[in-house]
Amino acid sequence: MLMDTDAAEAAPDLEPRVERIGRELVAQMPTARKTPRAAVERRVMGAMVADPELRAAVFRFVDVRPACADPGEVARHLGELLAEADDSPLARRGAALADGALTRRATAKAAALGVGQMAQRFIIGSDARAALPAVEKLWREGVATTIDLLGEATVTEDEAESYAARCEETLLTLHEASKGWPSRELLERDGLGPLPRVNLSVKVSALTPLLRPTAPERGIAGAEPRLRRLLRVARDTGAHLHVDMESFDTREAITELTLKLLSEEEFASGPSAGIVLQAYLTESPQHLDRLLDWARTHRRAYPFTIRLVKGAYWDHETVEAIQHGWEPPVFQDRRACDRNFEELTRRLIDAQPGGVVRAAIASHNLRSIAHAAAYADARGLDVELQVLRGLGDETQAALLAAGRRVRAYCPIGDLVAGMAYLVRRLLENTSNDSFLRAQAEGVDLTTLLEKP
Ligand code: 2OP
Repeated sequence: MLMDTDAAEAAPDLEPRVERIGRELVAQMPTARKTPRAAVERRVMGAMVADPELRAAVFRFVDVRPACADPGEVARHLGELLAEADDSPLARRGAALADGALTRRATAKAAALGVGQMAQRFIIGSDARAALPAVEKLWREGVATTIDLLGEATVTEDEAESYAARCEETLLTLHEASKGWPSRELLERDGLGPLPRVNLSVKVSALTPLLRPTAPERGIAGAEPRLRRLLRVARDTGAHLHVDMESFDTREAITELTLKLLSEEEFASGPSAGIVLQAYLTESPQHLDRLLDWARTHRRAYPFTIRLVKGAYWDHETVEAIQHGWEPPVFQDRRACDRNFEELTRRLIDAQPGGVVRAAIASHNLRSIAHAAAYADARGLDVELQVLRGLGDETQAALLAAGRRVRAYCPIGDLVAGMAYLVRRLLENTSNDSFLRAQAEGVDLTTLLEKP
């Protein structure tokens, strides 16, 4: 393929580099958490992977859990979950679990009740003020952050207004606090220029209740004044504002709104801003063409940051497409998806000289991370790596030790607002294709680092 030839020419020794960086990163990873709670969590995840019916039942429980008005209602739903766990043909046959020590019933119960504890690992605080110590601690250690206020797919204008107000308040709170942080050269400047200390990620579906695939223009019009407000606050406080991608049916509206606002004269001088590219979408290469074209024809004072991710809505996209009899918009083959991730990584890194684009590669897949670092090194270019708080902590520690720029995506909020986020993390963690799972199960390093 053309892309592979280009990469090979640009970096003839890419594979040995990937292998070396991957091994170095693993050597720097702290050993997996050894607390009893972490051990139970791993076993529960393992059992959920081995038992799809149980996994589905747990997800149904997790879904209704925030809507439960009182502990009695939680208990009733938990009872139903446990009955289901007892009832299924698998359980009746007394089938062995992934881990013999846990019964199916115990797994269901531990998974359901452990949700709150797990949330604590993924969420850094209930609001901006409560999260400040954690954000500052990361900064002092040498880790940048992007803050995400939990809450998405709002259904009322009031909710959308309150989300925007929380975002604004978070930008102001972080702005004030960040003045007292010590200098961290690696986090404050790259080859393309200055990097803001404060970085906020926002979801357009939280900025308006009107974001619907059937009438994208209404969603755009609904979110526009609020996103404009946030861009102004980010510009005035010198923060970076990042627009997250969500499900495929909102991609067009989110892209159009973001590019429209960032094309305006008012925002030509700032803030630093960016968007997300989801590599699991089969159309992502064409989408990147469009983003790069836009960035080249709309030069702003700050490079346009493109955060490459695999994508967190795989199950949703696949089920939705099947229900409608459509071709799924997402790769069904993991290796094809991983190859696409690497091709997009190289294109993004190559797009940086000239300063219109800044690449951020977000992944927990050791191969994808090592590949990004190796390619950037081979080209003599810089690249930022990003992980999710709670899922990517070990990777983060290894990247930090290796002297690479790493940014942690840190959600703020409560369990109710964070449920959809948490479900996406659980789905990722218990998927058959999960890299983290393969790593936790002890798949050997050569296999993990294999070219996809
Ligand atoms: C999510 O909310 C991290 O933005 C990603 O799932």
